[in-house]
Amino acid sequence: MSKKVLVTGGAGYIGSHTIVELSKAGYKPVILDDFRNSDESVLKGLRGIIGRDIELLKGDVSNTALIQSYLRKEAVCGIIHFAANKAVGESVEKPLLYYQNNVEGLVSILKAASEEQNIPFVFSSSCTVYGEPKGQKEVSEQTAKTIPTSPYGFTKWLGEQIIEDLFHSNNQLRLMSLRYFNPIGAHESALIGELPIGKPNNLLPFITQTAAGIHEKLKIFGADYPTVDGTCVRDYIHVVDLAEAHVKALEFLLKQQSGCHEVVNIGTGKGSSVLEVVHAFEKVNNMALNYEFAPNRPGDVIEIYANVDYAEALLGWQAKRSINDAVRDAWRWEQSIRAKE
Ligand code: UFG
Repeated sequence: MSKKVLVTGGAGYIGSHTIVELSKAGYKPVILDDFRNSDESVLKGLRGIIGRDIELLKGDVSNTALIQSYLRKEAVCGIIHFAANKAVGESVEKPLLYYQNNVEGLVSILKAASEEQNIPFVFSSSCTVYGEPKGQKEVSEQTAKTIPTSPYGFTKWLGEQIIEDLFHSNNQLRLMSLRYFNPIGAHESALIGELPIGKPNNLLPFITQTAAGIHEKLKIFGADYPTVDGTCVRDYIHVVDLAEAHVKALEFLLKQQSGCHEVVNIGTGKGSSVLEVVHAFEKVNNMALNYEFAPNRPGDVIEIYANVDYAEALLGWQAKRSINDAVRDAWRWEQSIRAKE
């Protein structure tokens, strides 16, 4: 069997960590990326970790003809689709950009994966499809999805629906959507990590940039939520654990003799508050972080974390790394970026 795996958005944050784990597991990942939201320097980082160059197909995932011509020439055993825009706020300002890139990109790669061949396919979905869960904090795959509040959220909601509808049209396909909770951290080598473009919206990059002196203070959005300490609670998962889940997902699909369609939560099963993350960062890295409480951020979910029973039962996968590991690795990565400046 061919060991080639096409990874769209393979130069991005989660994509690049998945390239490493696929390589470690004996696969030959191929990056499909046009670097619109990533930097070619990631290729050097990957070479440093893996010890060889990773094959690159430079291009846009919406270019179905490009992908089809590649798949006709090369035997590819699986496709993992990350390439998408992911900033919630930006998606409200530029909805057409999000619908075009995220929905058109998914349709394009699915056409290439399913029309001529039946290539196992893994899709990056998000816990955003649950919205604010009613009356429960821990959500399982059976928890009702809600209509999302941002175009970004809608592209993930719609992406899952597109995949479900495709499976109804052809039940021999092998398809899986992974609902990620909050990925954080970086590879422990500090050779790859998250490279936010502009001012970060997400908590961890803002913490590390504040610790590096780029921002004066972290603003903690909301202090009086009905949670353990008044700040919002999320399920933060180390990006390497998340990358390992993709390898397990692919292996599961490769083992199937007939078609299947699965949707799986990928988190740790544990919630942490914003303050708990801040305090973990301070303790592990032995430094004080400058922060202040600020008004609630509109649209924030109060508390959500994953029920991960299905991931364990179906994929034999479980997150192994802690919040402490993640904040240590995130800080090492931030320092390595600053050392290059
Ligand atoms: N937060 C702060 N200060 C900051 C940044 C974030 O207090 O400067 C807080 C937020 O208010 C929230 C928590 O940190 O309570 C986590 O915020 P993130 O922006 O890191 O993550 P979100 O949970 O809001 O968003 C993530 C993904 C989205 C996805 C969403 C689904 O980034 O892509 O989960 O719920 F849509």
